[in-house]
Amino acid sequence: MASYMIKGGKRLKGEVEISGSKNAALGIIAASMLLDGPCTIENVPGIADVCIMIDICEYLGAEVTREEGGTVKIDPAKLRTCDATNDKARSIRASYYLMGALLGRLGKAILYMPGGCDFGTRPIDQHLKGFNALGAKHSIEFGKITLTADRLTGDHVYFDKVSVGSTVNLMIAAAKAEGVTVIENAAREPHIVDIANFLNTMGANIKGAGTDVIRITGVRTLPGNSTYAVIPDQIEAGTFMIAAAATTGDIRITNIIPKHMEPLTAKLEEMGAVIETGDEWIRVYMQRRKRLQATNFMTMPYPGFPTDLQPQSTVLLTQAEGTGRMNENVWDNRYQYIDDLKMMGAEVLITGRVATVEGPCKLTGARVTARDLRAGAAMVIAGLAAAGTTEVADVRAIERGYENFECKLRALGADISRTED
Ligand code: UD1
Repeated sequence: MASYMIKGGKRLKGEVEISGSKNAALGIIAASMLLDGPCTIENVPGIADVCIMIDICEYLGAEVTREEGGTVKIDPAKLRTCDATNDKARSIRASYYLMGALLGRLGKAILYMPGGCDFGTRPIDQHLKGFNALGAKHSIEFGKITLTADRLTGDHVYFDKVSVGSTVNLMIAAAKAEGVTVIENAAREPHIVDIANFLNTMGANIKGAGTDVIRITGVRTLPGNSTYAVIPDQIEAGTFMIAAAATTGDIRITNIIPKHMEPLTAKLEEMGAVIETGDEWIRVYMQRRKRLQATNFMTMPYPGFPTDLQPQSTVLLTQAEGTGRMNENVWDNRYQYIDDLKMMGAEVLITGRVATVEGPCKLTGARVTARDLRAGAAMVIAGLAAAGTTEVADVRAIERGYENFECKLRALGADISRTED
């Protein structure tokens, strides 16, 4: 098992460059299975989930070449199977994007019910609602889902819930369906726009991504033969912004799209952090002798406050003066890390979806666990802010989604090392 050992109490200072977006890259790699020709994808982050997605695509028959600097070349011409029940597919949530891609390309997809982080129930009813509207049938047996369609035909789909995964999956499946598909009540996350832009660059006709109505006019072929660069990772950037505030540090975060950070920027300013913004960078710092003030957060689909920054922000509230509240509105069980945080001395009360945090509190080092990807990043921030040594165990969960996390933190002055049992 791999762990991070963190000696807390250092102010993080300096510059950090953000990697490509995990969730966009995973969706784009899955969507590339739909193409009739090869494509080149740039700015792909070197993280475990991407490696797994590439392995699954190779297992399906795609030829994949990885080059230095985050460039991935994919040729899906020799796709040989629609059966993605490879053990690896169980471990990442984003393998569900292969449902839409394989259905669109081969008319059939077989997958394990998707895995990923455990935030409580993670249904796929809206994904299925979308596929069924396009004419696909599905069956679920022995933990596997099979989708089949003689042909996919465009339709109007109104999602009952704003769902990132369902929106992406239906957009992918509809890209080569006959006629027009209209998705209403679509999710608007930046990576949805990125996946739509990728597909359009490869020959698709998708309009409205980034709004709640997306219109996809199916095309016969998706020639590919183009290059596309993945957007920067909004959640990685947000994690470093929060780390700057939590350690009363001063970090310039580069290779980002500041617009994507606005839900967090607004909250950090409310709490007393100073934010400077340029074209592709943000600087976050605390003024001398100024303390963070508590505030209230509510996670919502984009452009609301992202649930994937909830654990990191809850840790930040422990460093703020006053009573702060976090209202988790997207997932029903995303507070599993709170017991670890309490072990470090935090005062947090969970009532249903709301975590009430009394601050400021002096966190002290303890042995805690990265229970999932973002909770793990939150534990690292807690360790950076705490007195003494914190061991964050099981950090492979963090490495699923953060490229060179501990190296980037060390370059900012953190005392962090990685050990392997
Ligand atoms: C994606 C992200 C995840 C993030 C989440 C919300 C990826 C790989 N993962 O997950 O990191 O936390 O968006 O921003 O991009 N729901 C249904 N029925 C469905 C699908 C979803 O009821 O068919 C519900 C879920 O239980 C949840 C809410 O909708 O309460 C949002 O889920 P969704 O946006 O689909 O999340 P994911 O795509 O799984």
